[in-house]
Amino acid sequence: MWGGHYAAGPAAVMAEINVSIDVDKRMYAQDIRASQAHAAMLAAQGILSAKDAKAIRMGLDMILREIEDGVFVFSAALEDIHMNVESRLREIIGDAAGRLHTARSRNDQVVNDFRLWLRDSIDQIDNALADFQAALIDKAEKHAALLMPGYTHLQPAQPVTFGHHMLAYVEMAGRDRARFADTRKRVNEMPLGAAALAGTSFPIDRQKVAGELGFDRPMANSLDAVSSRDFAQEFLAAATILGTHLSRLAEEIVIWANPSFGFIKLSEAFTTGSSIMPQKRNPDAAELVRAKVGRLLGAFTALTVVMKGLPLTYAKDMQEDKEQVFDAADTLRLSIAAMAGMIRDMQPQKAALDRALQDGFITATDLADWLVRAAGIPFRDAHHITGRIVRLAEEKACRLDQLTLKDMRAIDARITDEIYGVLDPARAVASRTSFGGTAPKNVQKAAREARKRFLKT
Ligand code: ARG
Repeated sequence: MWGGHYAAGPAAVMAEINVSIDVDKRMYAQDIRASQAHAAMLAAQGILSAKDAKAIRMGLDMILREIEDGVFVFSAALEDIHMNVESRLREIIGDAAGRLHTARSRNDQVVNDFRLWLRDSIDQIDNALADFQAALIDKAEKHAALLMPGYTHLQPAQPVTFGHHMLAYVEMAGRDRARFADTRKRVNEMPLGAAALAGTSFPIDRQKVAGELGFDRPMANSLDAVSSRDFAQEFLAAATILGTHLSRLAEEIVIWANPSFGFIKLSEAFTTGSSIMPQKRNPDAAELVRAKVGRLLGAFTALTVVMKGLPLTYAKDMQEDKEQVFDAADTLRLSIAAMAGMIRDMQPQKAALDRALQDGFITATDLADWLVRAAGIPFRDAHHITGRIVRLAEEKACRLDQLTLKDMRAIDARITDEIYGVLDPARAVASRTSFGGTAPKNVQKAAREARKRFLKT
């Protein structure tokens, strides 16, 4: 392609380090579509003859079909997707193919393709996240009143409902979607027409091409257009944050599925057996989702280090951008789908959850709150009194509601038998009616509202 002043071919290792076709061929559809829009614009502007533009359009259509039918022969010697397509175009339509690259460079072409690809990918991730939210909301509605221990420090804290716990992840996924949607705004600006770096002397119409390709606008500065990759960093940052959310839920599934907890059962569809221990049901999918965030952060780190300190404008370093983003997008597709699958698959186990609610004096806060409400005791003092009651229950190895009134009154005489009413986890949960709280009525309503806020009906 730059044969004019090159007599010899590249060293084998030069060709090997330079080639990117195995990675960037994934952008073939975007490359072809953008070339067609570019050629149409060149013709409309009188830069290209109508005849050549037509040949280019038809030749590119044919190449698209060849690639989609799996008969296109990709050549490593042609380096990347752009030169593979252009070279094949020349075979099909002859010299007119050489006019396609007028007023364009691979520098603006590659990042244009990349932005188009990423835009589609963000839309797919958004759909996948909506499906994940739908799975969570369905589970939340079904188990809006199912009690479970809520934890802080992974120690029993206060009872909550299983539905409330599911809805926590709906909110996280909602913010993830918002982050991707916001990133998409900055992805959806068109670099094409920046040419190599400085713009072009040809009378091109960038608005027209931008409209054709669904971009919001052409990028305002040609140097920025060919050399910026913050849109990709931003995508990877959002991907990493989403990955942390998925990994937290994955970790909870691993814990809940452990027989010592037994809070959920996963079917054979989402577990694996062991070749040596016949009793095993391992939550491999959850473990893998838990691990995947490492790849995502790795991708963000890799691209950020590539971009750090790069002088304007384009440098070949930037060819390293796509592999990271493609890997992250693949990782998310798989992780989100696996997670939605596990949420639909898992069956909460009421007996185990009830058993767990017997541990850890989980309604101690309700006891303290009662002392405040019914006996007018300041919360700090109520906390102290409750602590002594808990210690007594520990000594007697019994639950709070198994202590006698006499025992409790020995600690504080203001306690009456009304206290037993608040020690029941179901009562405790039902009383948490503050906005955003875990009372089953709230959870039902929150699930309905989440459906409206996040899902198309
Ligand atoms: N394959 C290259 C990339 O991914 C395309 C741009 C090449 N530009 C250049 N001036 N060599 O970045």
